[in-house]
Amino acid sequence: MDVTELVKDHYSGGDLASRVLAAVSNDAPGSSALTWADLAGVDNLHAGGLPATRYLLSALDLSATDRLLDVGCGIGGTARCAAADHGCQVLGVDLSDDFVRVAEILTERFGLADLVDFATTTGDLSPIDDGSFDRATLVHVGMNVPDKPALFADVHRVLRPGGRFGLYEQMRTGDGDLTYPLPWALDDQSSFVATVDEYLDALRGAGFTIDLVQDRTADTVGPPPAGPGPEVIFGAQFRTRVANNVDATASGTLGAVVVTATRT
Ligand SMILES: C[S@@+](CC[C@H](N)C(=O)[O-])C[C@H]1O[C@@H](n2cnc3c(N)ncnc32)[C@H](O)[C@@H]1O
Repeated sequence: MDVTELVKDHYSGGDLASRVLAAVSNDAPGSSALTWADLAGVDNLHAGGLPATRYLLSALDLSATDRLLDVGCGIGGTARCAAADHGCQVLGVDLSDDFVRVAEILTERFGLADLVDFATTTGDLSPIDDGSFDRATLVHVGMNVPDKPALFADVHRVLRPGGRFGLYEQMRTGDGDLTYPLPWALDDQSSFVATVDEYLDALRGAGFTIDLVQDRTADTVGPPPAGPGPEVIFGAQFRTRVANNVDATASGTLGAVVVTATRT
């Protein structure tokens, strides 16, 4: 299997939307007033959950007139948060048909479909017009992307001049081997963790100016919030993957890093 197929296979599953909705409904039995934010434990597939999403989006100064592209949108947590909190139009794109379908169902269910669309892509952004977005985000995706310079060149192309790109990624912050499975990959065939400097070099090479680099690891440690979590999607063995990630973080090998950059 090539890398794209391995990544798609990793982020897939049958009837995920029903599982997610059942899990959040069971967590709040009798509640007829669930909101998009009740999905937070399940639909933020990254360290630090919804607070980390909100931190990144705030760093991008989003406004209601902005169009945001969320690359590797997963099941749509970041896209829904951007639309609900900032009122902007969002397009979320992802390799996984299964995840895009779940993202659409959940977004419709929580009344945000007039602001948020989703599309399946094949690993690049070729269907998207030049300069058609004001902001772009990449949240815990680059670890699955072997050619980050190519992806960042694509993001640069689809942003308007002066547009801003926010990344929140697991980056290599120290020496040491990684122990698999990790949340994003079962082994090193589909894992391409890079250092902070490698990210910054790739962004500059694509034509971005770096505005902010911030290690957010300390803000993301601690027990997960009560209620259903990503194991609803990935199954019980997801805890082993998270435990390996936590160990790598505790030893300083991995960190959760925010970068924002402006398209020159
Ligand atoms: C760890 S999940 C994060 C999902 C989402 N950004 C979030 O934080 O909830 C990584 C996602 O990136 C997607 N992905 C990986 N490589 C991609 C690529 N080249 N283009 C689009 N999506 C990609 C995967 O299919 C998966 O849904």
